[in-house]
Amino acid sequence: MKQIIDVDVKTRRADLARSKTEMLVVGRFSDVAEPDDILRKLDDKLGGVIERLKNLGDFTGKAKTQALLYGNGKIGARRLLLVGLGERGSATLDTLRKAVATAACRAVDLKVGQISLALHRPLADRFNAPDMGRAIAEGVYYGGYRYDEYITESENGRPGRLEAQIVDSDAARLKSMTPGITPGVVIGRVQSHARTLANRPANVINPPALAKAARDLTHGLTTLRCTVYDERQLEAEKMGGILAVGSGSQNRPRFIILRYTPTTKPARGLPTVALVGKAVTFDSGGISIKPAQDMDQMKMDKSGGIAVMATMKAAAELDLPVNLWGLVPAAENLPSGSSYRPGDIITTYSGKTVEILNTDAEGRLILCDALAFAVRQKADLIIDVATLTGACMVALGTFKAGVMSNNDDLIKDLQKAADDSGESIWPLPSDEEYAEEMKSKIADLKNTGSRWGGACTAAAFLRQFVGDKKWAHLDIAGTDVFPSPVPHAAAGSTGFGVRLLITYLMNLVGKK
Ligand code: BES
Ligand code: MN
Ligand code: ZN
Repeated sequence: MKQIIDVDVKTRRADLARSKTEMLVVGRFSDVAEPDDILRKLDDKLGGVIERLKNLGDFTGKAKTQALLYGNGKIGARRLLLVGLGERGSATLDTLRKAVATAACRAVDLKVGQISLALHRPLADRFNAPDMGRAIAEGVYYGGYRYDEYITESENGRPGRLEAQIVDSDAARLKSMTPGITPGVVIGRVQSHARTLANRPANVINPPALAKAARDLTHGLTTLRCTVYDERQLEAEKMGGILAVGSGSQNRPRFIILRYTPTTKPARGLPTVALVGKAVTFDSGGISIKPAQDMDQMKMDKSGGIAVMATMKAAAELDLPVNLWGLVPAAENLPSGSSYRPGDIITTYSGKTVEILNTDAEGRLILCDALAFAVRQKADLIIDVATLTGACMVALGTFKAGVMSNNDDLIKDLQKAADDSGESIWPLPSDEEYAEEMKSKIADLKNTGSRWGGACTAAAFLRQFVGDKKWAHLDIAGTDVFPSPVPHAAAGSTGFGVRLLITYLMNLVGKK
């Protein structure tokens, strides 16, 4: 897995004021008036400039703020980046993750290839050391990520590499963080890889190319296997949903099946989990074509499937003792002489028939085949991830994904994983009243409901295909992309879902 910027995370015991570095990164709370011992020491050497900044109101430690200073030979660091941690009482692990990401992001912008991080220090009494190590490693990857594989001009010294050292004078503290850094690096790497795959355009990643990317993930991992249904097998298996959505494109659809079987036997009673992800490599809307405005963004309509693929890879690398399926239906939704049309009635893998009213409601059609496949394979618990509805974006905006489920305990567990991972979710309903709207007069179901509650009716449609299995659906339509850069990340794919799903699985097997 070649990273576009090669990231490395290490620990180093050092005196913060003296140790040589390109950029030292230190945090500050907005509501703690007194500087802590590091800030005080640096401030002394720098002639009071840190306190001056605070008193002028230019940098007070507010969340999402930062200030860049220069060491001028007075401290070991060439540059000193102060990062705001917000109010002390509301700091979470994600505060740390985002602060680290902000620093890494700034370093890459400045073409600085080496940074020293002391951001864990003010939080050390709040969180356990491995959790902090993991959040820091994840943050370095997140902020250091860039998508520039097609920029051939103006190479002008892009760093290509970011080396981050977690520095502390206390060797024991550094050592205690290490058990978290290792999984943090695995998760950071796969999430960056997921962002690259998602950012790749539809002329590069079509369903067969995505299937190849899935196969590539299994290299060197004997516990992870990949099977791909091509068009002939889709026909033989009667996967009518995937075939219908893929019917308009010369890039033929695929069904990607990843299977992870751990080396250690899962604990008794642990469910076999199926992760299902929507991978529409380009969603033009089909015959019910979308407006031209922002249609380019629909290359990201494969993000859910990619999040599932990346999570499978991470689970295998982390050796999680749980049986997993990763199911990724992949199709390109285009209008053509061979496309499916409004009015068509299709028979899905489950046997249920669906009347098509809008070819732009295609995600649910490929997902229902994959969900029914998960049920047939006797998965106990199913989680699907999809950029499914604009309505979810209208309801929740871009900060939280919607979660719909037939099981309250599963919502709780996902909520916990969301809190731990910093990938936020919010529950929405999908029960009987919504399901009622999806009934057709001439088929079992139709693929759109009324104007209202589109995220809920879409979920209610999916719910018809999971039988009595525990199931949750994550609608990530609002959270899959940053349209413009944010302090802690570049514009483009957010990789949303990777940390959430792997954290859910790690919590499930009780592994930190
Ligand atoms: N991929 C879109 C949903 C989407 C919209 C994702 C905006 C990200 C940003 C999905 O396939 C779609 O087109 N949904 C329709 C459903 C409608 C036709 C019932 C929508 O939301 O408009
Ligand atoms: Mn669509
Ligand atoms: Zn779509």
